Amino acid sequence: MHFHKYEKIWLGFGLSMLVVFLLVLGVGAFAMGTAPPGHHGVQVDPEKVEQIAPFNKPGLHKVRDNEYEAIMVGKIFSYLPSAMTVPVGATVHFSITSPDVVHGFQIVGTNVNAMVVPGEVNNISHKFTKAGTYLILCNEYCGSGHEFMATTITVQ
Ligand code: CUA
Repeated sequence: MHFHKYEKIWLGFGLSMLVVFLLVLGVGAFAMGTAPPGHHGVQVDPEKVEQIAPFNKPGLHKVRDNEYEAIMVGKIFSYLPSAMTVPVGATVHFSITSPDVVHGFQIVGTNVNAMVVPGEVNNISHKFTKAGTYLILCNEYCGSGHEFMATTITVQ
């Protein structure tokens, strides 16, 4: 059997790309802990969000030095708490759920971008290394007041 020179080059290229993709996938999955989303975490009855701890008292709590927990509720058409302030370098662990419909949770200028689904508690952490006022907005269409659904986190 005879292979044309270009055919060999392209076969080699294809095989090496396969190896590169598998390496990227393997390093991401096993060395960096990347996993697809979708596993169920903590669940909560959406109709009782405002009575059940910790969501009955949304707010920012200090866990330890420069580490905070933000208990948040996203509902039509606002977030609770309405504003937060943390020092530069703080890591914030957000826990957020919704009592009504699906909302979004995006912190502009960071890679924090999550869905806020009724019945599910979404946990996401972020370290704020730069001072400023970060806009948190809803990026899932949730009704007539969707565009007004926003809050801020001030890092100073
Ligand atoms: Cu909430 Cu859009």
